[in-house]
Amino acid sequence: MAGRIPANFIDDLLARVDIVDLINSRVALKKAGKEYQACCPFHDEKTPSFTVSREKQFYHCFGCQAHGSAISFLMEYDNMDFVEAVEELALREGVSVPREESDQRGPDHRPLYTLLERVADYYRQQLRSKTGERAVNYLKSRGLSGEIAAEFGIGFAPPDYQNLTCLAASDEDARGLWTTGMLAESDNGRRYDRFRDRIMFPIRNNRGFIIGFGGRLTGDGKPKYLNSPETPLFHKGRELYGLFEARRSVRDLRQLLVVEGYMDVVALAQFGVRNAVATLGTATTSDHLQRMFRAVPELVFCFDGDRAGRDAGWKALQVTLPLMRDGREARFLFLPQEEDPDSLIRREGRDTFLRRIEDATPLSTFLFEQISGQVDLSADEGRVQLAELAKPLLEQLPEGLFRKLMYRRLEEKVGERIAPNSSRTHGRRPTVRPRASIGTMPPVRRAIALLASNPALAALDGLPDGWRRCNLPGISLLSELIELGRAHPNISTAALLERWRERPEGKHLAKLTATLLPLPATGLEVEFLDTLNYLSSQSSQLEWEALVAKAASSVLDDADKQRLKELVKAKAENDSKATRDG
Ligand code: UTP
Ligand code: MN
Repeated sequence: MAGRIPANFIDDLLARVDIVDLINSRVALKKAGKEYQACCPFHDEKTPSFTVSREKQFYHCFGCQAHGSAISFLMEYDNMDFVEAVEELALREGVSVPREESDQRGPDHRPLYTLLERVADYYRQQLRSKTGERAVNYLKSRGLSGEIAAEFGIGFAPPDYQNLTCLAASDEDARGLWTTGMLAESDNGRRYDRFRDRIMFPIRNNRGFIIGFGGRLTGDGKPKYLNSPETPLFHKGRELYGLFEARRSVRDLRQLLVVEGYMDVVALAQFGVRNAVATLGTATTSDHLQRMFRAVPELVFCFDGDRAGRDAGWKALQVTLPLMRDGREARFLFLPQEEDPDSLIRREGRDTFLRRIEDATPLSTFLFEQISGQVDLSADEGRVQLAELAKPLLEQLPEGLFRKLMYRRLEEKVGERIAPNSSRTHGRRPTVRPRASIGTMPPVRRAIALLASNPALAALDGLPDGWRRCNLPGISLLSELIELGRAHPNISTAALLERWRERPEGKHLAKLTATLLPLPATGLEVEFLDTLNYLSSQSSQLEWEALVAKAASSVLDDADKQRLKELVKAKAENDSKATRDG
């Protein structure tokens, strides 16, 4: 990753994103007054205590205390890290994430992306040149159109060993070619092109940067496909060929087809089926699935119709189970023998192929079909075995309606009630704490919580200043919050909290703020002013007492005398004000 993401960008991003829409795309929310509610996705519950505030751009669960911004939600719900969450939101909003030049957090990959883009350009050029003639003929023989080849950036790596060396303009380039796996090394330490005499498929990451390549031989030989090795940019077990292209070309993408090969993705796209992605010669991993479920709620896996295909499908099902939250869907399509999506769509056309997709087997059906096939359901023993086989699988499912329905289905097949092993809570303690009533909070905390949940309070006229002299924990945080609120009166609570994410007080601050989420906005100004006034007068009182004590035991210097005068004057003003008001 390159430098830090600027705080102002995060503010703006959180101001553009609507947390209600974001969460609603994953957990169905119901309007309840000014807020939105749902059963908490982070713990098991029957009545909704998960609350989302559009105004504060913040969510909070009164059951398990989960809380945070749109960024936190993606981190918790979709298992993203901070940068991934920011990038996902930016992608949704169609903006790119800027980086500060200084303060590097990790290696800056930008020069490598640029280099690989140049490599891809070079391969494309080669495909168009005389050298590439054979490759073009091969692609034609496979029925690929020039347009689709261009759209996926398909190129050709010529047969010789030192093509890329010529491309390297500097030592840095040469090192980059090595780092990105474009070169291999012989026993005597000589580096040469890893990809030779192959049709080249560039592989892009979420942001569209090329991170690696797949290369196919045009003739016989082994291996038929060669992929980039694991590099700092490229991790086979996470990346999906075609995902960037699918997201780019389909607005409002809802479904992804998971296929096996590069050629399948490209051929389907040529026939207008733009939502196919391929794993890169590996079985589907949990990382793959998480990536896909971040992009869409529905997956359809395509597998060969043979034994190996069904086994691969069963493996994919097992990896998918823990991710089957309510709202997500996974289905399985087993193709006719000897066919893959590429050959099938060319043979029977788009419509027939799409009908197969519509008719793909739901995960639930595939699961029960598969285990029912192993037992004799007409015998009690068989039904017991069915329960034994099914339970460990159903246990994998997250809490929710789908899990309940799957248990019910098992019960129908077995003819007996089956209790889940345990009610799981996904690592969160569902301790129900009473909502903190603001009146009982110590004053510094109360001021901080009020301010963080309503940053505009900082810009109120006539805020007192005396509290700054208090020697109490939290005072410096309070004054920092006031400064931030004054500089950005429209900042949302969520954006404010993001600025504290990495600071030790951050967690505490977010928790404190979350407890105030349900408070009506009226009356908060008075509450805030009263709190600051109270702290100010307390601070004056303490200071006054200290000065009086000092005067009794020693001599006051001029500064002390001046301060005492001020304090007495302020005290008198306050007293008369109190008489007037009260
Ligand atoms: P297949 O062997 O099923 O080939 O590999 P395919 O996709 O149908 O390719 P064509 O139609 O013969 O061109 C499926 C996928 O498995 C990976 C590749 O990602 C390929 O697209 N694979 C296959 C490899 O990584 N290495 C290999 O040697 C073969
Ligand atoms: Mn094929």
